[in-house]
Amino acid sequence: MITRFLNQIAIVTGGARGIGKGIAERLAKEGAIVYIFDIRAKELKKTVAKFKSQKLTIKGQIIDITKEKQIKKGIQKITKKHQRLDIMVNCAGIVGGTGNKIVDYITKTFEKTIAINLTGAFLLTKYCIPSMLKNNYGRIIHLTSIGGKDGNPNMVGYAASKAGLFGLIKGVGKEYAATGITVNGIAPAVIATDLNENTDPKVLQYMIDKIPMKRLGTVKEVAALCCWIASEEASFNTGFVFDLSGGRATY
Ligand SMILES: NC(=O)c1ccc[n+]([C@@H]2O[C@H](COP(=O)([O-])OP(=O)(O)OC[C@H]3O[C@@H](n4cnc5c(N)ncnc54)[C@H](O)[C@@H]3O)[C@@H](O)[C@H]2O)c1
Repeated sequence: MITRFLNQIAIVTGGARGIGKGIAERLAKEGAIVYIFDIRAKELKKTVAKFKSQKLTIKGQIIDITKEKQIKKGIQKITKKHQRLDIMVNCAGIVGGTGNKIVDYITKTFEKTIAINLTGAFLLTKYCIPSMLKNNYGRIIHLTSIGGKDGNPNMVGYAASKAGLFGLIKGVGKEYAATGITVNGIAPAVIATDLNENTDPKVLQYMIDKIPMKRLGTVKEVAALCCWIASEEASFNTGFVFDLSGGRATY
């Protein structure tokens, strides 16, 4: 049995489903106590119940990552209870609008996408770091996207918010490089999850066509990479975004 995260405390945002759910499961299977922050109450309850039946220590909290007070309170409560916070994986995110060029892209949709994908990441990082500094150890991982690196067309909110994450990861990674806290990201190409259920089929096909392996990635593949970055072994990487793109990323 692998026990890389034995007695470690982890927060996974967006873990009610999709990539976050897969990462929460793997962290817990390897010994972590995991707290999922999500806004989908029904799915969160179902997910937590499923994990409980597998005897995994995964708890759910309804927390909207755009709400500063909720994040601050949620993180502080966990830290007070366990006197530590080891891992924070931020998987909460939305696609926002797809299928329209910028001139037809609704401004409110842009603002909402930035609020969740970028401001949420800022707030989570801001409030996790003081908790991690208590033990001079921490692993912060944000899910960004190849769309932020390359700039997928017809989804400007998503591309801009995910590109912003690169700056956040690289800048904050350097700010805390001399501590035991690392700040990294993962930039996947398209992964098979519900996130893409409303994505314009043409946009989705465009993204698959760009992947030399000509297939979607899997949640298991994201969880495997993420859990290495979240482990103590990954001690010489910070301020870095790892590609996970079936060969799409070339730089
Ligand atoms: N699936 C892909 O193709 C793909 C590719 C590259 C990057 N990503 C990124 O990976 C992350 C996870 O994607 P996924 O496919 O699992 O998506 P998903 O839609 O299946 O899951 C995202 C979760 O985030 C939660 N969420 C949304 N807004 C929230 C908020 N304000 N507060 C708290 N939780 C919130 C949702 O309720 C949902 O459970 C996202 O950041 C996404 O942009 C996904």
